[in-house]
This record gives sequence, C-alpha cells and structure tokens, in this order.
Amino acid sequence: MRFRSGVAIDLGTVNTLVYVAGRGIAVEEPSAIGVNRATGEVEVVGQAADALTGKEPANIEVVHPLRDGVIADLDAAVAMLQAFFRMARLRRGLRRPAAVICLPGEATWVERRSLIAAAEALKPHCSVRLVDEPVAAAAGAGFDLAAGSGAFIVDVGGGTTETAVLAGGHVVRARSLRLGGNAMDEAIMHSVRTQLGLLLGRNAVRSLKMTVGLGYGTVTEAETVGVDAATRVPRVEHVPASLVASAIEPVVKAIIGYVQELLSDIPPNLAEDVVRGKIRLAGGGALLPGLADRIEAAAGIPAVVVDDPLRCVIRGAAKILEHGDQLPRFESF
Ligand SMILES: Nc1ncnc2c1ncn2[C@@H]1O[C@H](COP(=O)(O)OP(=O)(O)OP(=O)(O)O)[C@@H](O)[C@H]1O
Ligand SMILES: [Mg+2]
Repeated sequence: MRFRSGVAIDLGTVNTLVYVAGRGIAVEEPSAIGVNRATGEVEVVGQAADALTGKEPANIEVVHPLRDGVIADLDAAVAMLQAFFRMARLRRGLRRPAAVICLPGEATWVERRSLIAAAEALKPHCSVRLVDEPVAAAAGAGFDLAAGSGAFIVDVGGGTTETAVLAGGHVVRARSLRLGGNAMDEAIMHSVRTQLGLLLGRNAVRSLKMTVGLGYGTVTEAETVGVDAATRVPRVEHVPASLVASAIEPVVKAIIGYVQELLSDIPPNLAEDVVRGKIRLAGGGALLPGLADRIEAAAGIPAVVVDDPLRCVIRGAAKILEHGDQLPRFESF
C-alpha cells in the first residue's frame, strides 16, 4: 500500500478524530478546549477540557468550537486543531502534507470557507481537500467508491444527521438535518426538568439516552442523580424509560422523515443496490438503542449499524487520503 504524507480529519460537533497516513488514528478526543480567562491561553484540550463542561471552573472557559456540524468559533477551532496536531506529533517541517477534511454535505459556502480558513492557519501548512461526510462514511462502511455502486448512508452525529444516496464516490441525493445526539440530550434534559423537577448534568443525560434509548428493551427505568430544581439539593431519581423515549421521539421522527424522503427519490437504477446494500447507520447516534429497528420498520428495507460507527467517517477519510487518486475528484484548495 502506498501512503501519502498527510492527515485525515473528522472535525465533529462532539468528537474530533485525526488519522495520520501510515500510522493510523492518532487523536480521538471530544471537540473542546479550555481557555484561561485571564491570559487567553489554551490550558486544556479534548477530553480534559470536555470533562470541565458545565462544572463552572472559575479560571477556565470551556469552548466547543463547532455547532451543528460546522465551525461556530473560528479562533477556538484553529487552537483546538493545532493542539490536536501537536498530540498527533505531526512534524512541523513536513512540506505541505495533504489534509482530507470532512464536512456536512449541505454546508454553505461560508461554512466551507471557514473550515478552509481554519486549516490554512495550521502549522504545518496543509493542502486541503474537503470531502462530504456521507462520502467518507460510505467509504468507511466498506462500500467500494470506485465501483460506482449505490449506497444509502445515515450518519447520526452529535450536531447533524446526514442522509445520502451515493453512486460510487458521488452524492446522488443528500439531506443534512441539523439535529443529532445533542438535540436528544437537550430534549431529555428538558423533560426530566419539567416532569420530575430534576436538573441533570450532561453526562447523566447521555447515560440515560444510552441505556434506555427508544425504550424497546427490558429496561423500564434508569437511576440518575441530579439537583432538585426547587431545593437545589442533589437527589437520586428513577427515571421511567417511557419519559426518555418520548423526549427523544421528535428527533427520531425527524431523522426517519429525512430517510423516507430520500428513499422516495431514489433513481430506479440504484434501487437494487440500495436494498441489497442495506441502509448503513454510522456516527455515535447510530448506537441509540432501537434506532436501527425503527428506521428499518419505517423504510421497509434492512437497516444495520456499521462496525465501530464512531470511527466510520475517519476510516473512510483515511481511505480517501491514501487512495485518493483512484477516486472521483474532490474539492481541493
Ligand atoms: N451508545 C450510544 N447511544 C446513543 N447515542 C450515543 C451513543 N454513543 C455515542 N452517542 C452519541 O453520539 C454523538 C457523537 O457522535 P459522533 O462522534 O459521530 O458525532 P460528531 O461527529 O462529533 O458530530 P457531527 O457529525 O454531527 O458533527 C453524541 O451525541 C453521543 O452522545
Ligand atoms: Mg460526525
């Protein structure tokens, strides 16, 4: 196998992964930095920064530079990526390495420019190739992009859900829904507060989401700890599975609606490939208990979660980095 000098980056709303050609995934961290309020210096990055979220440390402001799949704070995104490059031990002396960077299929021109601006500010200077996330997800799910066969991908991330039909490395139809795991978290947080009078932190909410999901399993309730909204005293609560499931239902309905919309618009020549290739679910949200079954029931064709869905996009981006010459051309800068 021929390795190009370069990196592939999955800059996600919740998690960022950096793959270094010839070495593999070198960074897999939450997309967060902690900035010293007095000096403006980056004090902590990734997991260490994310762990401080919502804990209100006096001297550090925690920033999540992405929102809904795109950069919301350019300076913070550059600082975070630069810190990740350091973690990946990328040599600064490298001569213009290739950087394959994934972004939502329906990102606007401004959002694309902002990603390029972030990449151009990095050292070493990279030669950037933007790749639509569904294309990378399809490659990561094992579809042979060079063969021109059809694929149906649903990537449920933290900030966005990408649904796409592809023929080889080309997007045929795509819809990007700016809702994902974070919206599910907010919905659960809101329902527990209004129905049980309990304020939950982010980790408690995520744990409810991951254990209960759509509530089809054997779990009928899940224990959690929060702060009583009235007395402000911590308390333990048993949250009914039905409360969690109905809180996330509107987000799940929106995802299913996008899948159905896309399915009803498939070119007849791709129909067989899509049915035989199954709907492939990628992204962390694909792990939501019950989601694949719901999508399968609504779509009427099999839906399966890809192996290691949180790494699906970076696996595909890595393939594009290493075998890019054999694949359709992507936007280069
Ligand atoms: N077992 C699980 N069940 C439900 N949700 C999960 C599970 N594991 C992770 N998640 C959710 O997946 C999301 C993170 O997924 P991922 O890393 O694919 O997103 P991202 O790439 O950072 O976001 P985006 O692609 O939208 O920019 C989070 O919302 C997280 O809570
Ligand atoms: Mg993602």
